[in-house]
Parts: sequence; structure tokens; C-alpha cells
Amino acid sequence: MYTSKIIGLGKYVPENVVTNDDLAKLMDTNDAWIQERTGIQERRHIKKGDGNSTSIMGVKASTIALERANLKPDDIDMIVFATLSPDMYFPGGGVEVQHLMGMRTVPALDVRNQCSGFVYGLSVADQFIKTGMYKNILVIGAENHSGGLDFNTRSRGVSVIFGDGAGAAVLTRSDDKTGILSTHLHSEGAHKDQLALKGPSTSYWVPEIIADNPREDIPYYPVMNGQFVFKHAITRFAEVINEGLQANGLNVSEINMLIPHQANLRISQMIQRKFKLQDSQVYNNIQRYGNTTAASIPIALTEAWEEGRIKKGDLVVLAAFGSGFTWGSVIIRW
Ligand code: UT7
Repeated sequence: MYTSKIIGLGKYVPENVVTNDDLAKLMDTNDAWIQERTGIQERRHIKKGDGNSTSIMGVKASTIALERANLKPDDIDMIVFATLSPDMYFPGGGVEVQHLMGMRTVPALDVRNQCSGFVYGLSVADQFIKTGMYKNILVIGAENHSGGLDFNTRSRGVSVIFGDGAGAAVLTRSDDKTGILSTHLHSEGAHKDQLALKGPSTSYWVPEIIADNPREDIPYYPVMNGQFVFKHAITRFAEVINEGLQANGLNVSEINMLIPHQANLRISQMIQRKFKLQDSQVYNNIQRYGNTTAASIPIALTEAWEEGRIKKGDLVVLAAFGSGFTWGSVIIRW
């Protein structure tokens, strides 16, 4: 069996910066509340006419990742595209990347799994590379949240959190035993309604929505039971990080860089305290980008690598938790 290794990383975020004060002009919120509860200072939103979409941001991040991997689009054997906010209901973003980047007719797999999408995507790619079926796989996490959020006070607990952006990683076959050591994935559908966007969907279709509109429970905007999600996130993050370390006979103290999904700075800080990690061992950028769900880990991983905070031989741990609930971890020897 082979090992898969990340050899190129890229990120893209729209230029349009939206501060907490900007949001306070649209709804009853304020900078102090948002910073204290989430750590977020600003996020990026696509601006109408700036040419961006979920797929296009994915292409921009992928172009950088490919250049850094020193590969051409033709070298890619498979695309895995994770998003909860695709440009279209169907088809998904993977085929758009294949087309826009001029790739061969390689398979394009779309992954949902929300905040865990990139971790699930890496796991899928890892399996294809391990077995020898494919050599180079492009894994993308991209989100356009701003196009589908409710910027009214009734949704303030959700809408101040999310931001737009994309990140991408190129994985290749490796013979030297460095790279992805293991991936660990979980789900618990009993809590599917705790963080969800219910329509439009086949169970709540457009004519019904129009007939019901306006409804109190606004099912065409995301809803979240924040405290419930928060409590589960703390538990599951810790569990799945431990699971990954134990599977490889590793200790928490050996982690050089933990990149948690950027859900809430308070969640990351609680995990850091629980594992007694130094600031230098955990990467956070939610302050600047908000929660970009499937894009948050690849954006943070790219920035950590760009800043020289990940070096050859380092133990890098990725961990995610989100809607579904779904959660997972990836243990990497860089
Ligand atoms: O990425 C996927 C996983 N997602 C997560 O992990 C998110 C987990 N949850 C959270 O991060 C937090 O629960 C939130 C940041 C979403 C909310 O923070 P909280 O400390 O749990 O606040 P809360 O929902 O309990 O609300 C406290 C108060 C409420 O007012 P009352 O009822 O006490 O008067 C809310 O209406 O804060 C109010 N509130 C706001 N006030 C100002 C909620 N959102 C806002 C807001 N601005 N944006």
C-alpha cells in the first residue's frame, strides 16, 4: 500500500471585507458580542459582480495549489470537491473545476458533510491513493455562504458567523511513509436538525415555500441550535483527535500543529486548554474569515504552511465537527 502526501496548498478569499460593524448596520448585533462569543472580527463576502462563485473560488485556490505542487491540470487523476453551498443544486462543483481548469475527463466527486467536508474529502482521496488506483488527487473545500444567509435580526446567531472562501490541496502517492498516517470519520444523524438548511429541497420544494412564505421558521435559511452544537463540538473534537493519535501510537505532546475547523475561537481555545497545547501548536484564523465550513481547514492549513509554521517531519492534526452531525480527524506526518 502507498501513502498519500500533500504536495501543494492554495487558498482564495474574496476581496470584500465585512466587519462586525458592517453587520450591525443590517441587524441588531454588535462588535463586542460577536468578538466575545466567537472571536470573529471580520469575514469575506462575495460581492455581486466580482466574478466569484463557489466553484470559481475553488478553481482559484486549486490553481495556486497545483502551481505549488509543480503539476499541470492534466496530471490530476481525480477531483474531490467539498461544499454545502454549490453554485447549482446539481451538478456539483467538481465538474465545474474539471471544465474550467481544462482537465482530462477525470472523475469529479462531490462531497457534502458540511464543516467536515474537507476532512471527509481528504479521507476519500487517501483511500484511492493508498490502493494505487490514482496518483494525484485535487481536494477542494469551497463555500459561498453570503449568498444564502438571512441578514436580519431573527437569524443573527447564524449570519454573523459564516464567511466565504476556498482552499485546496494536491495529494500525491508517496513511497517514503510520510504523509497521511490515518483518517477517522464519524456521523450522528439523530442531530441532523440542530444545524441545517431545510429548503429548497425535495422535502420542501419551491411551490410549497412560496405558498408558505413568509413562515416563522424560515426554512430556506440555515438554522442552528448554537449551544447544543457547541457542547457536542467540544466533546467530538477531543474524541476524534484522541482516536487519531491512539491509532498511531502518538501522544498529544507530539503535535506540532493542530488545525481545528474554524467554528468558533472559543471552541478552539477549549480544545487547546484540554490538550494543554501552546499557542504555537494551534492555528486559528477565524478572526479574519469567520467560519467558512468546508473551506476553513484548507484555508488555515495553507496559511499555516505559508507562514512557515509547518515544517518537514512535523506532526499535523486536522479535526472537524459540524452539521449532520459529522466529524473527523486526519493525522499527517509532514
Ligand atoms: O461550524 C459548525 C459547527 N458550529 C459550531 O460549532 C457553532 C457552535 N455554537 C456557537 O458557536 C455559539 O453557540 C454561537 C456563537 C452560535 C452563539 O453563542 P452563544 O454564547 O451560544 O449565544 P446564545 O445562542 O446562547 O445566545 C445568547 C444571547 C441570546 O439573547 P438572550 O436570549 O439571552 O436575550 C441571543 O439572542 O445572545 C443573543 N444573540 C446575539 N446578540 C447579538 C445571538 N446572536 C447574537 C448576535 N448579536 N449576533
